[in-house]
Amino acid sequence: MKIVVIQGPNLNMLGVRDQSVYGPMRLEQIHLQMKDFATQSGVDIEFYQSNLEGEIVDKIQECYGDAHGIIINPAAYSHTSIAIRDAISAVNLPTIEVHISNIYRREEFRQKSMTAPACTSSIIGFGPFGYHLAMVGMIQILSEIKAMHDAQQGAVEA
Ligand code: DQA
Repeated sequence: MKIVVIQGPNLNMLGVRDQSVYGPMRLEQIHLQMKDFATQSGVDIEFYQSNLEGEIVDKIQECYGDAHGIIINPAAYSHTSIAIRDAISAVNLPTIEVHISNIYRREEFRQKSMTAPACTSSIIGFGPFGYHLAMVGMIQILSEIKAMHDAQQGAVEA
């Protein structure tokens, strides 16, 4: 099983930017913790960060046929990007949107996510721990899909 983690613009500045909102953890530390949990859980994980909308669209498209699930924080593009939303819909993979901060308690322009309706679910406002919750959620979703698939295979073979 392979999960791809896609991080949008300015998330490479975590630990430096707005610590009162995003906390002191750097992106590399978050990814190290996710990697440890993935290893323990027996899943492959890949990390990608870009500040460019088109590159994020390309990465989502690359997941088609390569990954089983996507964890994405589209960052500021969440609030504007129909292109990223369409890419998420197009690949039709289980996708969890993460926001470190509680976007519903922030400026009005952050309170709408353009991309979340294309996702399976969202995890919002838990700080960097939200990425861990997303991993737990994704592993659960993927094991349910596998169980369903195995049951269908069993029914065909019977
Ligand atoms: C964010 C929230 C966005 O509004 C913001 O532009 C970000 C980070 C979050 O994780 O809380 O860059 O996605």
